[in-house]
Amino acid sequence: MSDAVRNRLWIANEWVDARAGETFPTTNPATGEVIAHVAEARAEDVDAAVEAARGAMADPAWRRMGPHERSRLLWKLADALEADADAIAALETADNGKPYFESRKVDLPSIVENFRYFAGMADKVQGATIPVSGPFFNYTLREPVGVVGIITPWNFPLSLAAWKVAPALACGNAVILKPAEQTPLTALRLGELAAEVGFPPGALNVVPGFGPTAGSALVRHPGVDAIAFTGSTEVGRIVMREAAETLKKVSLELGGKSPNIVFADASLKDAVRGASTGIFYGMGEVCAAGSRVLVERAVYGDFVAQLAARAEKMTVGDPMESTTRLGAIVSEEQLDRVMSYVEVGKREGARLVTGGERTTVNGKGNFVTATVFAEVEPTMKIAQEEIFGPVVAVIPFEDLDDAVAKANETIYGLAAGIWTRDVGKAHRVASEIQAGTVWINTYNQYDSGSPFGGYKQSGFGRDLGWEAALEKYTQVKSVWVALDR
Ligand code: NAI
Ligand code: MG
Repeated sequence: MSDAVRNRLWIANEWVDARAGETFPTTNPATGEVIAHVAEARAEDVDAAVEAARGAMADPAWRRMGPHERSRLLWKLADALEADADAIAALETADNGKPYFESRKVDLPSIVENFRYFAGMADKVQGATIPVSGPFFNYTLREPVGVVGIITPWNFPLSLAAWKVAPALACGNAVILKPAEQTPLTALRLGELAAEVGFPPGALNVVPGFGPTAGSALVRHPGVDAIAFTGSTEVGRIVMREAAETLKKVSLELGGKSPNIVFADASLKDAVRGASTGIFYGMGEVCAAGSRVLVERAVYGDFVAQLAARAEKMTVGDPMESTTRLGAIVSEEQLDRVMSYVEVGKREGARLVTGGERTTVNGKGNFVTATVFAEVEPTMKIAQEEIFGPVVAVIPFEDLDDAVAKANETIYGLAAGIWTRDVGKAHRVASEIQAGTVWINTYNQYDSGSPFGGYKQSGFGRDLGWEAALEKYTQVKSVWVALDR
């Protein structure tokens, strides 16, 4: 595979080696095999990418490109991704370990749709005329922020890049994308495809590398105007602190410990299915994973039994097999983290109902079985800390107020699920939950048009939706014209 894999830095529409000549291996977590040695960007390479991006912002080919043309390029990029979807999905699965059907049937179609949605926005970025006192005409211009640094995690490598790259380009910015070191390959392919469809040099640059070097250099660089980050809350804090030196515009989409609340009047079958996909989809390596399931006491026992039965049907296997429901955990380090939480849960006195076993497929790879903990106290570590694996904590509650209190008893506020047949109760709880997204009788729904992001320490700023994109990727200029001279 490695010959076909793009493994160098992508700067100004060209493949370049890292200045220091360093590379790092990226592996297939299902087999442990090295897929490619990838050029490792350091500060001097980030300098080169910033120079290219600033060049694009000064180049009439990008700066003066008409909005319809920008729209057309984004649409063509969507077409190119769609045409190559099989190969890109296979690359994503090889690098990340998620089941191929998730990459191919969920990630890729939504990535394509995302580029089309923001293609539609490119020629609708407009200001306003404003009635002001005096003999003046006042209007606003919505202008690009400039050079946008985008830092993404490894769980949805191309999707989360697309969420940010598409609107940033739609608004006329130049982008430097720093993908996660575990999963850099599809981002590099995106850069290459953007050039193929006609984006001018420097509009989209891709610099794989590590957080404390490449990531930090991007955050601190005076030539970068904004940072859009998705990743851990811990690193989000560092990013905000380091961005303060140059007063960059920052948006952070961080971790979660999202509650999935099951009332006794819910369809238990639907709630069990929703709780199961809520935590086991993507091996639970999902920022919005429903990792705390709160269940009303009257149905608690039944619910736990049914969820455990479903967990036991989550087939661990080769990500390329269509029967596989749980693929590989992205890295050995991440699997160690997940396993350490399983131990912590047992030690804290929660009941391990099923799963919690480290395993291999064909004697290789980083795998773990779907894990359910019951009798979890809301204060336990497994109920408070983001595990980012297929591990769910099931917690009983007494009534609506208790459910809301427990749901909100977290530093996070990314998402929540509510399962009930009572419409009034559903909307009341939706309004009382401190989270950026609430799903009622469903879970893990996303759409390019619907804003997604955090309350509390899950961050700020929104991905998706055109209003959120305008807020993040444009700045407003107010222009005054005297009418009496
Ligand atoms: P991370 O937050 O370290 O990595 C995310 C991105 O930030 C990567 O591109 C990384 O290279 C970059 N980065 C790391 N340090 C940086 C720095 N000092 N300056 C600039 N960029 C930096 O996440 P990691 O270590 O891969 O995962 C650890 C835990 O974080 C997971 O177990 C999970 O709990 C959480 N996480 C949450 C994600 C989410 O979507 N909310 C995504 C990834 C991880
Ligand atoms: Mg990898």
